[in-house]
Amino acid sequence: MRTHIVDHPLASALLTIMRDERTPNPAFRGALRDLTGILIYEALRAAPVTTFEVATPVAVTEGVRLAHPPLLVPVLRAGLGMVEAASELIPESRVGFVGIARDERTHQPVPYLESLPESLAGVPVFVLDPMLATGGSMRHTLELLVAREATDITAVCVVAAPEGVAALEESGLPVRLVTATIDTGLNENAYIVPGLGDAGDRQFGPR
Ligand code: URA
Repeated sequence: MRTHIVDHPLASALLTIMRDERTPNPAFRGALRDLTGILIYEALRAAPVTTFEVATPVAVTEGVRLAHPPLLVPVLRAGLGMVEAASELIPESRVGFVGIARDERTHQPVPYLESLPESLAGVPVFVLDPMLATGGSMRHTLELLVAREATDITAVCVVAAPEGVAALEESGLPVRLVTATIDTGLNENAYIVPGLGDAGDRQFGPR
């Protein structure tokens, strides 16, 4: 699996705001929105474009647009805070949804929502989930996408744990990872260390 760690001072500064336990929910959401923009830029760095003629006020020149705008798939609930920034940057993108809760005892993913186009053949997909912890939710999402014939999938995450990266690698599923950091590991509750806590709670308050 190809992994791209986005190494940019602004990304690191936004991540620091998100890590800080004193950051209130609205500022956390703002930092996640801005960091998502940076991650999306990087995820699209090598995206193919088509060219077309565009008239400036001065002359006709060549313009470009994305050849294949990706389907955006936020993984609810935490991925919700990434979808607005991503769709503002790629307004032509469609959005699908996957909802996965986590059993706090077993740490296993508990799927509760799946709203995706029937066929994803030839469609690049960006899965938006700030936290790649055990990799269980991401793997479940990837399996749903591959079952719909997706072959070009990017997991866009803020924080990844080595365990989650290894789980994706071992899955053999067609995915690349774009993340702001790979942290130290998981604690006994399957939280990422140092991480940033529960990314859903930090955005929306505790359930
Ligand atoms: N999900 C989160 O929101 N935080 C973690 O640290 C792990 C999973």
